[in-house]
Amino acid sequence: MRIYLDHNATTPVREEVVEVMTAVLRENPGNPSSTHAEGAAALAAVTNAREQVASCLGTEPKRVFFTSGATESNNTLLCGLLAANASRRHVVTTTIEHPSVQEPCTWLEARGFRVTRVPVDEDGRVDPSRLAEAIEDATALISVIWANNETGVIQPIEEIAACAEQRGVPFHVDATQAIGKWPVDLSRIPVAYLSCSAHKFNGPKGVGALVVAGDGGIEPLLLGGGQERQRRGGTENVSGIAGLGSACALAEQELGERRRRYAELRDRLWRGIETSIAGLRRNGSSEHVLPNTLNVEFAGSAGEVLLQALDLEGVAVSAGAACHSGSISASHVLTAMGRTPEEARSCLRFSVGHGVDAAQIDRVIELLEKLVPLAREAVEA
Ligand SMILES: Cc1ncc(COP(=O)(O)O)c(C=O)c1O
Repeated sequence: MRIYLDHNATTPVREEVVEVMTAVLRENPGNPSSTHAEGAAALAAVTNAREQVASCLGTEPKRVFFTSGATESNNTLLCGLLAANASRRHVVTTTIEHPSVQEPCTWLEARGFRVTRVPVDEDGRVDPSRLAEAIEDATALISVIWANNETGVIQPIEEIAACAEQRGVPFHVDATQAIGKWPVDLSRIPVAYLSCSAHKFNGPKGVGALVVAGDGGIEPLLLGGGQERQRRGGTENVSGIAGLGSACALAEQELGERRRRYAELRDRLWRGIETSIAGLRRNGSSEHVLPNTLNVEFAGSAGEVLLQALDLEGVAVSAGAACHSGSISASHVLTAMGRTPEEARSCLRFSVGHGVDAAQIDRVIELLEKLVPLAREAVEA
């Protein structure tokens, strides 16, 4: 049986979620916009999911808008700024954002916006005071990733949110990696916008949400039938939305237990390889980090070679962000933390999740003990 340690790329869909989705697909043929009984049943499934998402995130159902995932949520928000902001044309973000934030920022720059990308320290954290210094009168938005997909490093979101609120600037948080692994409670943290994707926490792919805390001030990206209260045209992905709701309900119920279990597995892996393999360095803060993520530099080896060797032995890991797998360019996140391109290319990301157990971790430790020296020899040759 294969060992899947790539849960930050995507997660297996939980059986409970499959059941909910299957029931909707089998028994619920309606369009939520239709006024007959079938339509009402589909609308009820969407409404129920909206309540589950809102409850998991500590917000109100009316703040939740369904999208096709975090990429669409991030694009909707950032590209929507262009139409909605005639005077404030400046964005503050960081150097370690996901491409679905980075690329819309570049798109905005090409259309007259200015973007300040605040650097992170060598642990991968941004200093809130540096973000505060970057705020101008013209700042329309601050956008920060809550937990980084490559390193798992958690940003000081509460401090940034407090500062943004004090300065009167809307704050967007890309919480895609945080949900289901870290407490996300918008009733305590004043964020204006939040993005997420169901498949990162045991829901289906191709569905997510944008949470809009205030009245919005953003234009829709998709125009059409006025669905999602005019914010996102297109017939709702009813089964996917039901799956997202169900995954949120599980995440809410299980958060404490997941954090404990994932951290145990992640720490077991780190202790095992740290004591038996020389020349390792852990990337990113070991204090402010998701419980499930371990990013390690195997000095003198190539991450891609190790990834392939592990894959042949039945183990799935990542050598960079899976969202751009196929490319072996050095990770922008690791280089932003001060790693050289060569160091960044010798890193692997291990991310645990549902279905991983201690015996699997021990097997991976054993394999790495065997494969790392071979990968190092391959680089020397
Ligand atoms: C932090 C972060 N933001 C956004 C995304 C994009 O999510 P999706 O591909 O589901 O749209 C990802 C996916 O890896 C991510 O990790």
